[in-house]
Amino acid sequence: MNQPVLVTKARLPRREDFYSLCDTIFDAAWLTNNGPCVRQLEQALSAYLGTPHLLACNNGTTALMLALHCAGLAGKKVAITPFTYVATLSALLWLGCTPVFIDIDPDLCLSPWLLRRELDADSDIAGVLAVHIYGMACDTEALGALCCERGLPLIYDAAQAFGSRKNGKSLLDYGDYSICSFHATKIFHTVEGGCVITHGEEELRELSLARAFGHVGDEHFTLGINAKLSELHAAMGLSLLPGTDAEIEKCRRLHTAYDDALNGLNLAYPSRVSGQEWNFAYYPVLLPDAQCRERALTALNIAGIYPRRYFTPALNTLPYLEKACRRPCPVAEDAASRVLCLPMYGELKEDAVTAAAKALAEALRGR
Ligand SMILES: Cc1ncc(COP(=O)(O)O)c(C=O)c1O
Repeated sequence: MNQPVLVTKARLPRREDFYSLCDTIFDAAWLTNNGPCVRQLEQALSAYLGTPHLLACNNGTTALMLALHCAGLAGKKVAITPFTYVATLSALLWLGCTPVFIDIDPDLCLSPWLLRRELDADSDIAGVLAVHIYGMACDTEALGALCCERGLPLIYDAAQAFGSRKNGKSLLDYGDYSICSFHATKIFHTVEGGCVITHGEEELRELSLARAFGHVGDEHFTLGINAKLSELHAAMGLSLLPGTDAEIEKCRRLHTAYDDALNGLNLAYPSRVSGQEWNFAYYPVLLPDAQCRERALTALNIAGIYPRRYFTPALNTLPYLEKACRRPCPVAEDAASRVLCLPMYGELKEDAVTAAAKALAEALRGR
């Protein structure tokens, strides 16, 4: 392969679609502060996802901070998965919350039965932050029932789950609050951006106020932040949204190509819960052990392929956490030591899939 094959590649819209929206922005000379493109994008996303209470933000991390703030969780103990991108935890720490790490199940998502055990042991836990890792659904039934039983707010970090569905509805429609990232690496993006989704007008108003510093004119109502999406970022989203289903279909086909090419190799996969339609935005594999993963990485890099160790390390082991928070989570630590995400994006060529399978087979033979 001539060009290095990276784990992902940002999707670009047709230039004319983006430029014509830029023209409208120039004509209106309205660049930010809830402009027409942002409102149009919010409407288009609400319709696409079937989630009427949606607020666009300038990234997924601030969206998560808004959700935690509006759920009343600032400064409290929050149960969280250790197997996710660090931003899930960072949002929580910036709000002064104390993370209580709950280990994961074979689906690599927060374990509802371990959560129940922890809630029984610690009545100070005030809320739950779970992640649909790789855009694959958590056990939403068990988590939803448990949080409802205990009267706890349930927040989903669905940063990777745009386009994923479960039981006929968007995965972003679960939980009291759900957030998504529209970072350039995501299946749908606005270069930088994100959104928060909730279920009522009052909650939406509160989020909207907090997104823009918490005041209207000279009247200050609540603690706020700057989480506003700009018009140019919204224009990128508007020009990419129509092609998103086609991108998901391309990724689905590439998944089948990977499945066929890797068939028979000693690899494991996260288990998938039933009733879901995945967005196929990632191709995670679990190597037999950590040494084997390093061999696989070397073999893939020699072949010009650059997968990522998403998500290493397990967050409960981070050095800057308070010692009391660094409790063991053996399942997450094991997964983090041997997971690899192979390249996945619509434009990926099938010969890269074949080359990746060959390199992985060599690395596994070296065992
Ligand atoms: C699971 C998860 N949570 C949160 C984020 C943060 O989103 P953003 O980069 O838009 O701030 C990401 C982004 O990659 C993510 O993958």
